[in-house]
Amino acid sequence: MKKTAAILSIVAAFYACSSGQTEPKKPISVNMNPQIGDALPKATVAAPAGGGAAAPAKDGKALIAGSDCLACHQETSKLVGPSYADVAKKYKAADIPHLVKKIIDGGSGAWGEIPMSPHPTVSPEDAEAMVKYILTIK
Ligand code: HEC
Repeated sequence: MKKTAAILSIVAAFYACSSGQTEPKKPISVNMNPQIGDALPKATVAAPAGGGAAAPAKDGKALIAGSDCLACHQETSKLVGPSYADVAKKYKAADIPHLVKKIIDGGSGAWGEIPMSPHPTVSPEDAEAMVKYILTIK
């Protein structure tokens, strides 16, 4: 959760920075981590002390390997869930937000009755890196 908050505040800070100078002092509404808010809106404010690895380029393949995804998904053959190659065939870059949400929230209906388990501890940033990697599998 802390990491998610950190990412949200970085995004919020970044957004606030690029979208106008009307309220330079307190533009961050979703900031739940003052530590980061104080550290000013630079995308490079990566890792807060103790906040863990906030490496800029996430390796989706490694993130997938480090999570439980492979228990239900394989790259090219269907397991409990669809193969990633099938997912890549079905979706385009424009679908990334949907797939990010699906990884975090879980759910069923896109491929059948079996629901995908939710992953509330996966950050949106990590989920996006996973999706981007999945979409490269053909
Ligand atoms: C418990 C088994 C299970 C695990 C663990 C699991 N999935 Fe899934 N996944 C599924 C099932 C089942 C579906 C099909 C859901 C549906 O029909 O909407 C799915 C669908 C998906 C889709 C396509 C979503 C859509 O709307 O078409 C993606 C992308 C995906 N999974 C990625 C992941 C990633 C990344 C992980 C690891 C963080 C993961 N899955 C872990 C079972 C799982």
